[in-house]
Amino acid sequence: MKRFIQELVEENENQPARLLQILRVIQSRYQHIPEQAIEQTAELLNIPRTRVISVIEFYSFFHMQPRGRYEILISDSITDYMLGKQALMDYFCGRLGVRPGEVREDGVVSIDNTSCTGMCDQGPAGLVNGYALTRLDHQKIDRIAGLINRQEPLEKWPDELFHVEDRIHKKDLILAGSYEPGDGIKKTLARGLSETLSEIELSGLRGRGGAGFNTAMKWRFCSEEQQTERYVVCNADEGEPGTFKDRVLLNAYADQVFDGMTLCAAIIGAQKGFLYLRGEYLYLHDKLQKILDQRRQKGLLGDRILGTDFIFEIEIRLGAGAYICGEESALIESLEGNRGIPRNRPPYPVSCGYLGKPTVVNNVETFAASAGVAIHGGEWFSSLGTAKSKGTKILSISGDCERPGIYEFAFGTSIREILDDCGASDVLGVQVGGPSGTFISDQELGRRLAFEDLATGGSFIIFNNSRNVLDIAHNFTHFFAHESCGFCTPCRVGTSLLKKQLDKIYDGHGSAGDLVELEKLSQLIKKTSHCGLGQTAANPILTTLERFPDQYERLLKEISYEPGFDLDGELETARQLTLRNDAGAHLSQTGE
Ligand SMILES: Cc1cc2nc3c(=O)[nH]c(=O)nc-3n(C[C@H](O)[C@H](O)[C@H](O)COP(=O)(O)O)c2cc1C
Ligand code: SF4
Repeated sequence: MKRFIQELVEENENQPARLLQILRVIQSRYQHIPEQAIEQTAELLNIPRTRVISVIEFYSFFHMQPRGRYEILISDSITDYMLGKQALMDYFCGRLGVRPGEVREDGVVSIDNTSCTGMCDQGPAGLVNGYALTRLDHQKIDRIAGLINRQEPLEKWPDELFHVEDRIHKKDLILAGSYEPGDGIKKTLARGLSETLSEIELSGLRGRGGAGFNTAMKWRFCSEEQQTERYVVCNADEGEPGTFKDRVLLNAYADQVFDGMTLCAAIIGAQKGFLYLRGEYLYLHDKLQKILDQRRQKGLLGDRILGTDFIFEIEIRLGAGAYICGEESALIESLEGNRGIPRNRPPYPVSCGYLGKPTVVNNVETFAASAGVAIHGGEWFSSLGTAKSKGTKILSISGDCERPGIYEFAFGTSIREILDDCGASDVLGVQVGGPSGTFISDQELGRRLAFEDLATGGSFIIFNNSRNVLDIAHNFTHFFAHESCGFCTPCRVGTSLLKKQLDKIYDGHGSAGDLVELEKLSQLIKKTSHCGLGQTAANPILTTLERFPDQYERLLKEISYEPGFDLDGELETARQLTLRNDAGAHLSQTGE
């Protein structure tokens, strides 16, 4: 082990920033991070061993105790449940002779749950030793169990077990055009850097990761910073349940994404870029690395790009199972080899990002779109969309519809049109923007895809009338409690209380006062949390409670009360009492 770790750390140039990459390799070789490895890694990287331990404890793909030689993780997304996940999990456990969360006695296999693996259009999904498994059914599980029991090395498993489809159903500006590697950079260099930035400005392109910040403005701010060492980061963490469009972009449009990163680097004056790839997309890693190598051979990366003085390199860094690392400042912490704890902002990454240097962080789709704008010009893009939302948006559509997959729609398209296109009927509602977004009911299908109306990073989960909103809120609330990074109290304690409170109601033990308490707690977490995760963690409860109060109240009525009980009156009394009694406590907790 000593020699192995010595070589591994040397391969990683003794850089503490590569701690996650080092730990990933150790975890994969020993199925955990042994004590000796912790000591040695800390010594070789010249960092405290407590830092190594805190990183191991933070990321869900690292363990201090051995997992099975085959580690099976089953995706916990609501869409997996809708596709029969629970029964399949039971079947899998039966076939393997192991319970969830445990390692089989012989140490060969372990099985557990994991947050959404980004395969909602082809679930029930999972991972084996980090590699994606899709469309799990009894037949596939029988095959996998056989391979595991025979201890067949993963390299010898049939390719079809790891097949991931792209399922692109609708193409527009970004997905429809033909694209040759380097097209975007060539056009940028020919037109001029500031002229290309002006085209991006003209296009009105706003970030596709969710917040919708103006892309040209972000690049301009970064380029105007005093420090000349700058970085470009492509955010491919894609952890929002129900989102998988970045996976498809990276599989089928990688050159367009890398071109976008490269032309951004030319414009802002960066020489180094990172693709932060979520650990769940490990299967894409080697393919993407090969594309980067080809780009270097073609003169599109490295020194003297296309014969100019422009130098740029892209390195792929893998995450290790933490949704919070999609938040840009947490992502930067993770890139630096730390726990993914969101930083205080300001300063924003454009002035103080990776290693304290000016850094542009953009979503995968934002880079793909900017490459398109660089080629075709700003007007090409801004000709579609609405006043404040130009161009198109790529959606990951899953749930109750005939054709789940990837769709590119012009901004301004109505939700009804989107539902018609993907073959959805008898709709109860749609979760737009993933658990952190909004649940809309069938009464709101005239609303539009736009930053002015329904903004989304791309997740679009459809539920038909056979579904129950409490199941949805329950799944999403558990997700947030699991993914809270634990840094600030309102979110760490609040998401856990929210989960307990909702469970109580979900299990039929809730009173009217509990429902009021649930809403009150939701508002408190929203207002007082440090980052976007906590600020949106109560959205599943608040947006479903607002639209379907009867579904919550019915649960209280049926279980807790005699016929004739005046629930509305009780709710109002409880609401008034809690508002009056707890105003002081609320203020002292929030520090207002
Ligand atoms: C909890 C949380 C998770 C996030 N996850 C992602 C993600 O997976 N991908 C992404 O591009 N942006 C994500 N974001 C938004 C990023 O912080 C950031 O706004 C984005 O990467 C900027 O790129 P854009 O301007 O191109 O959208 C997340 C934000 C929060 C608060
Ligand atoms: S809001 Fe949640 S995820 Fe964000 S810093 Fe606080 S504990 Fe961490």
